[in-house]
Order: sequence, then C-alpha cells, then structure tokens
Amino acid sequence: MSSVNIGVLISGGGTNLQALIDSIENKDINGNIKLVISNKKDAHGLKRAENSNIEAIYLNRSNFASEDEYNKKLIEEFKSRGIELIVLAGYLKVLSSDFISEYDMKIINIHPSLIPSFSGKGYYGEIVHQAVLDRGVKLTGATVHFVDEGTDTGPIIMQRAVDVELDETLESLKAKVLKVEHEMLVESVKLYCDGMIEVQDKKVNIRKVQI
Ligand code: GRF
Repeated sequence: MSSVNIGVLISGGGTNLQALIDSIENKDINGNIKLVISNKKDAHGLKRAENSNIEAIYLNRSNFASEDEYNKKLIEEFKSRGIELIVLAGYLKVLSSDFISEYDMKIINIHPSLIPSFSGKGYYGEIVHQAVLDRGVKLTGATVHFVDEGTDTGPIIMQRAVDVELDETLESLKAKVLKVEHEMLVESVKLYCDGMIEVQDKKVNIRKVQI
C-alpha cells in the first residue's frame, strides 16, 4: 500500500504527536506526517514538528471571521497537501460539520478516559483525570476513536485500562494514562495506514488481514 499522508491538529505539548513522529521515523507506520497545525502559538508540539523537519503552522483563530471560516482554512491547508488522514493529538477546538463531512471517518482522536465515562463537553486534559479521582473509580484509561458530529461520540477504535490506586495523584494518573494513549494512538494509526480498520454501522472492525 502507498504511504498515507497524515495531518495532525494540536493545541499543546504534543507528546502524542511525538509518539507518532517517532514511530514513523522507525518505519513502524505506513504513513507520513505532511503538516501539523496548532490553534495555539506557544504549543510545544509546533517545535516538535519543526525538529523533525515537518511543516508546522500556527493558525490564529482571531484572523478569521468565524469558526466555519477557520475550519475552511484548515480543510484548504490539508487538502492542498493531499492529506488523507487527520489525527487530533491534544486538539482542544471543536471541528465544524463541514470539516467532519470532508474527512468522514478519516479523523482519529485520542481521549484520556474510557469513553463514555468522563467524556463529552467540558471533559478534556487534566479535567478528566481530576473527575476520575473525585469519583473514586478503580479503573480509567484512554480511548482512540473516529470523530463524528458529537463530542467524543464517534466509533471506538481501541481502549486500554489503567488502575487507579488509592494514593493516586493527578500527576501520577496523567502520566499512566498518557503512556497508554501513546501506545494506542500509534497502534491505531498503524492499523489505519495498513488498511486494517473498517467501520460498519458505527462500529469499528479491526481486520486481521489487509483490506
Ligand atoms: C492529553 O491529555 C491527551 O489525552 C489529550 O490532550 C492532552 C495532551 O496531549 N488528547 P499531548 O501531550 O499534547 O499530546
């Protein structure tokens, strides 16, 4: 199969982006990251991309009249580079319905909980882990899923659980979950680029052989 052109959207540190960059550099993924776009100027993920000679753009929302205009620009940037798969790696903005239909079942997101727990509007980053600790659940984890019109409601590709210990802190839990995020995001993107992921009736089937 020919290599898949990947575009990544970030808003922050970019450790998930770094995990993808490292796997691609190790030739573990049949894909290449053509462009990274951040809505935050100071996102460290932009530096990570530049350090690996990947084109990185800060797209300032205040330069656009509306969310729709901003998303139209995102689509333009990605399409002009032939990008076929979008990865949201810590991207904190909502995508427009135009964007989602343009890349139907071609947008992969990583969420730091076992969806549907601790997901949906307002649940992102450390807020998720604090809610997990406050609720006192014994298991949490991360979820990789396709993005649909809802918030964290698209077809689930992969999930992995981590124990929540009695003496767990926000930092220790965040680190544990981030570790399985990196593992699963790399695995999911690899499977996608190998043509081994299909969606039927909003359910994901991971084929044992290439499609
Ligand atoms: C992490 O909590 C991740 O679950 C979420 O964004 C946060 C930052 O990730 N998707 P990263 O280090 O910027 O990749």
